[in-house]
Amino acid sequence: MTESITDRALAARASELASAEPAPGPARTILQTAQVRVLLIDLEPGRELPPHRPEADLVLAILEGMGQLLADDRIRPVRAGDLAVVRAGVVRGLRCLDGRLLALGVVTPPPGPDDHRTFNGGAWPEEPTADDPADVIRAEHRGLMTGVADLSRLAGAAGALDADQLRTEVETTIGFLQGELLPHAAAEERLVYPAVERVLRARGGATNSMALDHRRIEKLTSDLEQTAMVPSEGMNREDAKRLLQALSAVVGLHFDKEEEDYLPHLGRLGAAERQALVAALRGGHETEEG
Ligand SMILES: [Fe+2]
Ligand SMILES: [Fe+2]
Repeated sequence: MTESITDRALAARASELASAEPAPGPARTILQTAQVRVLLIDLEPGRELPPHRPEADLVLAILEGMGQLLADDRIRPVRAGDLAVVRAGVVRGLRCLDGRLLALGVVTPPPGPDDHRTFNGGAWPEEPTADDPADVIRAEHRGLMTGVADLSRLAGAAGALDADQLRTEVETTIGFLQGELLPHAAAEERLVYPAVERVLRARGGATNSMALDHRRIEKLTSDLEQTAMVPSEGMNREDAKRLLQALSAVVGLHFDKEEEDYLPHLGRLGAAERQALVAALRGGHETEEG
């Protein structure tokens, strides 16, 4: 077999290598000797290496994305950075559910034609069902929303309350924030964010939450525009006040997140990447000014 894509020394990003030339199937051989075949496996959603049981050992390194590995009778989630070893004679299969899955497979000895016969007609075992932790968090949010709604209600009413009433209301609010909202946030940091991060590391999308802030700012801006689209005496002061307070809070927090958590990463780009980004941000003014 001589379908190896190079006979020379090779160094490239795996994703570029995988799309360099059309592959005959989901796996292309990048090295083959009498002892070993090394495969670059490139799976799009719905594509798979169906369950089969070759008489060959397999070492699998997940390079990009995430998917599922069948080894023996168990389906395991695999993500970029994972390694798997499957011994000869053990049923194995690999599939991609969404995104793109890139993996390097080292097979020894090189498999023969019989080794690719699908096992059990290519059918995967049933996966056990499990509850969705997102439902738990959503339910907690619904429980917290009453207290959150009270925040803006109090903001609107604060001017009209006498000193004692205001103190009582503020103390109740602090009780809600310290007793319910912040413990919820702490549990998310301890349990939920690390789990989300495992997926984001493999799939990307870590900045989507920042774009979501931008959408919220756009929505608040258009809501504010609506309050201004009436004759001045008809303008709803409470609505305008609430929207301005929300805009100020969202934009302030958003800038903090960008400057403390996102922008420092740009320093890790290469010099050429930083220069190109600066030029794009300045929209070419730099070149015009010399
Ligand atoms: Fe939350
Ligand atoms: Fe921004």
